[in-house]
Amino acid sequence: MTSATSPIASPIASPISQDELKTRVGQAALTYVVPGQIVGVGTGSTVNKFIDALATIKDQIPGAVSSSVASTERLLALGIPVLDANAVTELAVYIDGADEIDHHGFMVKGGGAALTSEKIVASLAKQFVCIADESKWVSTLGEFPLPVEVLPMATAQVMRQFEALGGQASVRLKEGAPLVTDNGQHIVDVRGLKIEDPLDFEREVNQWAGVVTVGVFARQKAQVCLLGTPSGVKTLVF
Ligand code: 5RP
Repeated sequence: MTSATSPIASPIASPISQDELKTRVGQAALTYVVPGQIVGVGTGSTVNKFIDALATIKDQIPGAVSSSVASTERLLALGIPVLDANAVTELAVYIDGADEIDHHGFMVKGGGAALTSEKIVASLAKQFVCIADESKWVSTLGEFPLPVEVLPMATAQVMRQFEALGGQASVRLKEGAPLVTDNGQHIVDVRGLKIEDPLDFEREVNQWAGVVTVGVFARQKAQVCLLGTPSGVKTLVF
């Protein structure tokens, strides 16, 4: 399938687990890995399936540029070299999951708190291939709480700004304390937003003082989505 409209044929509950759908899209993404070229690698449970699959062809690639400490550790444990993003001028492909993806290839990301590095690695890539199970497909972004990486001293002000837009903002916690990202910052999650114009929204929020990265990926959108459904992996091209 190459159309980006209505990829989900049936509302009937999937007999295939979400974990299995993630495995299938992770394996399907191998098709986009270019032999002899470094691959950009995202973060999350779906990407973990991709990393496991990538290990089976690791002799064909020089290595990967990783978007998080967690992915780096998994890549290295499987014998896949990890290169510094600064050592790379361009990547053929970046493969990552999403918390939401729409029919333009616009995404919400950052459920795993790695959004800043994900955006950096995505910006190096000629092509963003999103791997996702069908639960991530939405008509309008905003159902999933929007992650925003923020400097700790700015969190209260950024939360007030989101509340002025009609959102409900909270600082993400881990074991009772604010979660600290790989970059030493905090995450504000915003519920209740309907993001009708992702490009404009991303541009606007990125200018707020103290915002490191907003989890809307509109400039760094996906060109391809491999969507796991009970009837197979659908290839959506945007
Ligand atoms: C991490 C991300 C992930 O790609 C997103 O949260 C999806 O994760 P999963 O594959 O575990 O559902 O943006 O920051």
